[in-house]
Amino acid sequence: MNKVNKLLEHLNISKAFIAGQIPTDMASLCKEYPDKVSGIGFIGATEIDGSPFQVYAARTIVFSSDRGITHSAALNFQNQAPTIKVVKFEGYEILPWTDIAIDRASELAGGISNFFLNLDFGDELVLEATQDGKIDDIYFSIQGSGPALVLLPFMLSAAQWDPIIGELCKSFTVIVASGPSLGFIPTLEGRASLPTYTSMFSTLLSFMKIPNNGRVLELGCGTGALCRQAINSRPDLAVTGADINRYLLNGAYQLADEAGIQVNKYFEGTEFSEDLFNGVGQFNLTFSDATKIPFPNNFFDAVYSVTVLEECDANQALNEIYRVVKPGGAVGTVVRAIDMPQWLDLNVEDELWSKIIIPPQLISPSGIADKSLYGRMADAKFKDLIMFPYLFSANRKTDPTIYDWYLRRAYQSLTEDEQMDLGAARDNISEKRGLIFSQPLHCCVGWK
Ligand SMILES: C[S@@+](CC[C@H](N)C(=O)[O-])C[C@H]1O[C@@H](n2cnc3c(N)ncnc32)[C@H](O)[C@@H]1O
Repeated sequence: MNKVNKLLEHLNISKAFIAGQIPTDMASLCKEYPDKVSGIGFIGATEIDGSPFQVYAARTIVFSSDRGITHSAALNFQNQAPTIKVVKFEGYEILPWTDIAIDRASELAGGISNFFLNLDFGDELVLEATQDGKIDDIYFSIQGSGPALVLLPFMLSAAQWDPIIGELCKSFTVIVASGPSLGFIPTLEGRASLPTYTSMFSTLLSFMKIPNNGRVLELGCGTGALCRQAINSRPDLAVTGADINRYLLNGAYQLADEAGIQVNKYFEGTEFSEDLFNGVGQFNLTFSDATKIPFPNNFFDAVYSVTVLEECDANQALNEIYRVVKPGGAVGTVVRAIDMPQWLDLNVEDELWSKIIIPPQLISPSGIADKSLYGRMADAKFKDLIMFPYLFSANRKTDPTIYDWYLRRAYQSLTEDEQMDLGAARDNISEKRGLIFSQPLHCCVGWK
């Protein structure tokens, strides 16, 4: 059964508003249980396949940038479903890690409330419910009173919905849902479990030659997938995963716990003590901004960071990594390589092929996603650099969700008919052998 529907049934809610950034989190609920959805909010969605949502067009509000990928997603959806309401945030670009609920708090909370409360949502009220719980692998918390509003996770926003929940609670019974099968967690987990991503990481680790019983930090650990891989391959290590996103830290905790790893939650105001980070075979989770790491100088035997320096001030983060690693300690860094082509293996007619444009990948203004990683590692004083570009691949046959996640961007340059031809080409070939989508990375290992 659809998991969001399970949540609604568990809470005895027959109808709810639903809002989130990732349309696929809502698609199957909308397709299978159309009567249960009072209205939909898409906040900064980077693509919207309109078909499951067409029937709700007049009950749908889309918040987007006035530029970039969320703007084109909103316009494309509006072409398919002209009665949707689009709210453009002027002078503001939404990237996958943007904290929309901090930056545009009042417009977002006000926009959602005004739009939904003006729709006909029946007379069911869920009053004064306050509880936390879990059903299946969905964690939920409930606050407020009024019609039910289910909030699904943002992609990589560290603040998630927190800054505006108080405001939304004045008009709605707000149900915040999270867990390993929602939001960006399945994508990060799926990518990390690709055989070629795993092999990139084990190559990185083997170059780093971390000493026995070493204390290791992963900066920007996300769901902790690579920390779990490190512990599984080197149970002698004491691994700490640090991230700026408490939502992902919670997800990392849940996943490690389910995997039977001893995992310690040190991101809820735990006092720092050196001993906490020494347990071999254990996984410690802690809050950290990569540009201000809350550990003493020379604390870790090794530090690595994989696809994080794109999102923050990379030079500052590299200086901080240098500070916290011991003299002689190894550091591994990996970023997406936007200066190398992504490689798409598709057998389509030349005419269609020439129209497929994979849009540029997104990076923060002071982030890095090119070969300048190597020079910056040297500038940050790391020595004896091992530099290796690497391609990882998603195979449509074995990893369809991740393959489609990468391919989805190729659809954006095409008309509706061309999109159908691309989809047919993809499905046709995948029956015979399976396709791959390959993403280049720049990887570097150096020593302090
Ligand atoms: C694309 S994910 C990579 C996760 C993991 N390293 C992996 O490869 O599966 C990027 C991670 O970096 C984190 N991040 C972004 N900016 C950060 C910062 N300034 N400090 C700490 N973590 C940050 C994000 O929250 C996210 O979890």
